[in-house]
Amino acid sequence: MIVDADLRVPGDKSITHRALILAGMARGTSRIGGALTSFDARSTARVLRQLGVEVSPLAAGRDILVRGRPRFRRPGAILHCGNSGTSARLLLGALSAHPFSATLTGDASLRRRPMRRVTDPLALMGARFTFAGRDGLPVTVRGGHLTGIRYELPVSSAQLKSALILAGVAAGVPVEVREPGGRSRDHTERMLRAFGYEIEDDGEWIRFAPTGRIVPVANEVPGDPSSAAFLVGAALLAEGGVLRLRGVGLNPTRTGFLRVLARMGAAVTVEGLHDVGGEPVGDLIVRPAELVATDVAAGEIPGLIDEIPLLSVLASRADGTTVFREVGELRVKESDRLALLASNLRAVGAGAEAHGNTLTVVGGRRPPAGRVVTAGDHRIAMAFGVLGTVRGARVRVDDPAAAGVSFPNFHESLRALRGPGKGRK
Ligand code: S3P
Repeated sequence: MIVDADLRVPGDKSITHRALILAGMARGTSRIGGALTSFDARSTARVLRQLGVEVSPLAAGRDILVRGRPRFRRPGAILHCGNSGTSARLLLGALSAHPFSATLTGDASLRRRPMRRVTDPLALMGARFTFAGRDGLPVTVRGGHLTGIRYELPVSSAQLKSALILAGVAAGVPVEVREPGGRSRDHTERMLRAFGYEIEDDGEWIRFAPTGRIVPVANEVPGDPSSAAFLVGAALLAEGGVLRLRGVGLNPTRTGFLRVLARMGAAVTVEGLHDVGGEPVGDLIVRPAELVATDVAAGEIPGLIDEIPLLSVLASRADGTTVFREVGELRVKESDRLALLASNLRAVGAGAEAHGNTLTVVGGRRPPAGRVVTAGDHRIAMAFGVLGTVRGARVRVDDPAAAGVSFPNFHESLRALRGPGKGRK
C-alpha cells in the first residue's frame, strides 16, 4: 500500500470516561467536545444516566452535554458496563462514597476481569462489597462514609489508581497511592488539578488532597493515541507515502509506543505540539520504515499497555526477535491478550511464544496468512486488521466489528490511508 492521508482519530477513550464521570459529579451543565462515541463511552454514559445524570446522546461530531449532580441517585436497576473495565472500576470508586447499594455487571469478557484489586482498597476506605462469585462482576457496592487511605497498588494501573482517587473526590478524603512499576496514565490527576485539587507526585507516592471542587466545565478531548497507534502501524508497514494524524493526545504516560517505535527504526515525527485542557496534543507524521526488533522492558509496560497488540504485529514484520517483558497484565485485559497474541501470530505464520509473563515475537518477511480469533477483543481485531494491510496478506479476522468498542469506523479509517478515491491494496 502507498499511504496518502491526512486524518483525525476519534476522541481519547480514557479522557472521555473521566470527563463524563467528573461532569456527572458537578452541579450544573458541562460541555464535552471531541469525545469518543464508541461502545465503551456509551457504557459510561448509560450508567451515569441510571445514576440520575443527564447525558445528551453520544454522536460523532456533536458536543456532549452533561447535567451532573453532586450526589448520584440510587439506581433502579443493575448497572451494565458492557465491555468497559474503565467504566466499572472508575464508577465503583465514585459509588463507594454513596449511601446506597448498586450492582454492576458487564458482558462475558468484563465479568471475567478482576475487580477485587479495586474493591479491596475501597473496602479499607469503608465501602462494602458483595460478590456473586470469587472475583469479578457482578458485584454490589454499598457505599457510605469513607476514610482516607495510603495504599500500595499491587499493579501499576490507572483504573485502580483512578478508582481510589475518585472515591477520595466523592467522599472528600485524602488518598495516597504508590504504583509498583512504571507510571500509568495520569489523566485523572491532570483533570483534577484543573478543579483545584492538590495532587503531588514525588516519583514514588501520588498524594491527592480534597482541596478542590468539581464544577461544570467546557472540555475538549484530544484524539486517542491508542487508536492512532493502529494507523501509525499500518503506515509504517506500507511501501511508500506519508500519513498525517491531527490532534493526537501525546501525554507522555501514553506515548511509550512512540519511544519503542523509534528504537525499531520507525520514522514518526511530532508537529505542532500544544496544550488542550492540560494534555499535550500534536500531529503525528508517519512514513514507512524498515523495522528492527527491540527489547521492551518491564518499566515501559504501563506507558504502552494498550499498544502491545499493535507493537507485537509490527514485531512480526521486523528484522530479529522482539521481547516484551513483564506483560502478565495482558492476561486480564478484554481477553487473555498474551495467549491470543501468541496464538494468532502463529496462526498467520509468524513465530511467537508467551511464556510466563514474557511475550517473544520473531520477525519475518513472508506475507501473513491465516485466521485470527479475536474473542471479541477490539485491540486484537485492530492489530490484525493492520497486519492484513501488508502486501500479499491473507488475514481473516473472525470479528472485525469488535473494533467499535474503542474506534468507531476503524476499518473505514484503515481504507482511507490509501488516500481519497483509492481502491484496495
Ligand atoms: C485505562 C487504563 C488501562 C488501559 C485501559 C484504560 C484507563 O488499564 O488498559 O484500556 O482509562 O484508566 P489498567 O489501568 O488496568 O492497566
